[in-house]
Amino acid sequence: MLTFPKDFRWGVSTSAFQIEGAVHEDGRGESIWDRFAHTPGKILNNDNADVACDHYHRYADDVKLIKDLGFKSYRFSIAWPRIIPTGRGPVNEKGLDFYRRLVDALLENDILPNATLYHWDLPTALGGWEFRETAEAFAAYADIVTRRLGDRVKTWCTFNEPWCSSLLSYQRGEHAPGIKDPALALQVAHHILLAHGMAMPLIRANCPDGEAGIVLNILPSEPLTSSAADYEAYRFHDGYFNRWFLDPLFGRRYPADTVADYVKMGWLESAEPAYIQPGDFETISAPLDYIGVNYYERAVLRAVPGKEMQTGEISVWKAPPEQMTEMKWEIYPDGLLSALLAVYYDYRPPKIYVAENGASYTDPIGPDGQINDQRRIDYIDRHVRAVHRAIQAGVPMAGYYVWSLMDNFEWGNGYACTFGLVHVDYATQKRLPRASAYWYGEVTRRNGLEEK
Ligand code: FCB
Repeated sequence: MLTFPKDFRWGVSTSAFQIEGAVHEDGRGESIWDRFAHTPGKILNNDNADVACDHYHRYADDVKLIKDLGFKSYRFSIAWPRIIPTGRGPVNEKGLDFYRRLVDALLENDILPNATLYHWDLPTALGGWEFRETAEAFAAYADIVTRRLGDRVKTWCTFNEPWCSSLLSYQRGEHAPGIKDPALALQVAHHILLAHGMAMPLIRANCPDGEAGIVLNILPSEPLTSSAADYEAYRFHDGYFNRWFLDPLFGRRYPADTVADYVKMGWLESAEPAYIQPGDFETISAPLDYIGVNYYERAVLRAVPGKEMQTGEISVWKAPPEQMTEMKWEIYPDGLLSALLAVYYDYRPPKIYVAENGASYTDPIGPDGQINDQRRIDYIDRHVRAVHRAIQAGVPMAGYYVWSLMDNFEWGNGYACTFGLVHVDYATQKRLPRASAYWYGEVTRRNGLEEK
């Protein structure tokens, strides 16, 4: 048996916008994702998340499902526009109440809540992350939520994947609000990091017996060949994707090599743009109780003459089709191990969760009414083994969360991608656990896997 530490958390993840629906209910305000999803051409098939999995109304059944399947912890996010509809100002009690009921249901069923304060659904009224005031508004929101729910939620995450809410959204324009302005994207990244740092001491004060951290999407990267040019492409990309966030969180400010690249590229007006104010780096590097790592794929970088600073394609290496999930993301469990080792050896966080890992596969419902998603089982099995290897190497791993509990609104891909352990029939909202859900429940119960 490959056994895991006694209190290892086997969990499942979701996020508010992707599952809740009920976008106009109980005083919820508009988020940038509502607007983006309703802009024609932004989402595959012009899908939107107005109903999604209707979790807002079905949360009690969904909690029961988590319980029946045997998962120990549930990572979900809180929708800022439900709590404070215009981003700042009075609390919308009905919104807060929804999460109180959700958390109570989890606790009654012995499921550990793990709450994320920001999984991309910024209240539109705030204008965007380019404004420093948005960071202040976030701190006030985090204060309210943790003051009100800190007695029952003990694991808090400030931000999910700041790279996505900054670079992917404001430089590449692929996510809301769909802007393509690299200099603005870096300003956004700074304000998100600042918001994280401002919120950390408030969360700690409101929930002194809890833990607070942040979740990053780490992209382990490597050069395609041993050439100096490929190495340069790799170095740049690692700065752009990983170190730009890790370094300041751990007290090192922005990586000097990437700062120099950005100044050269015109992404930064100077090494110290005016929006970085005295004291910001101290705020950003507030001590973390844990770091969450989301892992889906790796990047293999090759220098393209004249385009050394590659930021477009994540990876130039295309794996053969059988080594890819349906999203065309490479299946590479060793990358999870390298990500965990790199984060731990380079930055020494007190503990690490894998906060998301999973695969999109659309297997049909069989004649027996069941869904045999063996490929998802294999995917999770191999990644869980990578986590075990990290533990053997001394990495303080505290949990692993599958993305996702159930199929949901997969951002720009709408409902076409299905990451769920549980299948959702959107016409009837019926939940049907796939084979992987039962299998993962067994892993949870046994706290490990058979040795191979
Ligand atoms: C991550 C997001 C999550 C989900 C997965 C597939 O980047 O955090 O919401 O979309 O990818």
